[in-house]
Amino acid sequence: MVKIPVEPYRIRMIEPVKLLPRDERLKRLVSASWNVFRLKSEDIFIDLLTDSGTGAMSIYQWAALMMGDEAYAGARSWFNFEKTVREVLGIEYVLPVHQGRAAERILYTTLMDKRGAKVVPANTHFDTGRAVVLNHRGIPIDLPVPEAKKPNIEAPFKGDMNVSALRKLIEKKGADNIAFILLVLTNNTIGGQPVSIENIRTVREVSEEYNIPLVMDICRFAENAYFIKTRNERYKNRSIKEIVKEMLSYGDHFIMSAKKDGLANIGGFIGTRSRELYEELAGRVVLEEGFITYGGLAGRDLEAIAQGLKEVVDESYLKHRIEQVRYFGELMEELGVPVVKPIGGHAVYVDVLEALPNMPREQFPADALAAFLYLETGVRAVGLGALAFAREENGNVAYPDFELLRLAVPRRTYTNSQLEYVAKGLANLLWKKEKIKGLKIVWEPKVKGVRHFLAKLSPIEKVLL
Ligand code: F0G
Repeated sequence: MVKIPVEPYRIRMIEPVKLLPRDERLKRLVSASWNVFRLKSEDIFIDLLTDSGTGAMSIYQWAALMMGDEAYAGARSWFNFEKTVREVLGIEYVLPVHQGRAAERILYTTLMDKRGAKVVPANTHFDTGRAVVLNHRGIPIDLPVPEAKKPNIEAPFKGDMNVSALRKLIEKKGADNIAFILLVLTNNTIGGQPVSIENIRTVREVSEEYNIPLVMDICRFAENAYFIKTRNERYKNRSIKEIVKEMLSYGDHFIMSAKKDGLANIGGFIGTRSRELYEELAGRVVLEEGFITYGGLAGRDLEAIAQGLKEVVDESYLKHRIEQVRYFGELMEELGVPVVKPIGGHAVYVDVLEALPNMPREQFPADALAAFLYLETGVRAVGLGALAFAREENGNVAYPDFELLRLAVPRRTYTNSQLEYVAKGLANLLWKKEKIKGLKIVWEPKVKGVRHFLAKLSPIEKVLL
């Protein structure tokens, strides 16, 4: 019997959701060109597309919104935000931006240009960061540890970077050709898996040895810290706040999407320990986002994020957060759904190559499963596979290691029974997997790396009601 997590909050406001009948869902899917990104939110029963900006705010965050100072420059809300980032994360220089990918674009391209280098190794790039590097004529390289490539084996820190592969890459390409080293905490693409403190330290040593900047993507820093506390014996008596400070002390520069561990609906920031780089980035933020004391955000957003950053390091919040996702994953496992193990921090990932072994990669199994999950249950999840990550290499298609269906759990938003509905619905669908048809691309955008968000798809065979 899986352990049921108990919420450390009570629900004081609700938003009704409805389950459309199956024939209506099929119509909606056809008008969305079989790409779940194109569905209307109101046609969805339970939305697990992302945990980004979709969570519930606390009463304290809603109250903080009222404190928003909307001055163009020097707003009180900005100083509160800056002070909180310094206190919670220990990062000296902060620049607000409208969301994580703006931070990625400004920081990554500045570092690439400054060093005149193209290669960006990461434990594993997330799709938006990879797209930023690609569209700046860079070369994103994933260096996960070998165990990360085996979805069904348990290992505590599968998010780690393969340090010997990193050294080899630097020796081969030359340190001057590496723009920066990137650690994504937690490692979203390979299953929301945490990075160990030892790995962070070792990557830091390599970055110092070769004089290459170390950038951290800290979208889910608090979840990563919780995993360190609960999976590393030596950190079990350390507070989350201490672990966060230590983790981040090894980074030079940072990007953050406040839509994740900022517990807010929008926002992000760039952080750096370098005064010189801060000044350079500040000019770009003014040009591309807004003045340096609001960066494309309203003063009230800055207040909500500041409050969210204080709440996210609360251990009772984190315990429930991680346990709810684990509960959801264990339910699926009990029902025979092949999930990536161990269960990640913000989402459960289904190993689609295992779940749909007979569907060829060119039929986009992960995205096909996402479309049919909506059709069968009204639930929206997201495919992370060939549609998002396949690339051309010497005239051939190089497929990513995985086809994953990610069911992301928004923070403080869905109840355990809603997650049970999803687990059972997905298991039912996989019992009749012959109903799931592969997909083909009808149209795709020209911009590199964003195909999965916008592509128009169609099933390779007719789907009957
Ligand atoms: N880095 C990571 C690890 C992310 O997961 C995301 C967004 C970003 C950067 C970009 O942040 O959305 O604020 O521009 N991830 C969302 C997701 C969209 O669904 O995982 P953003």
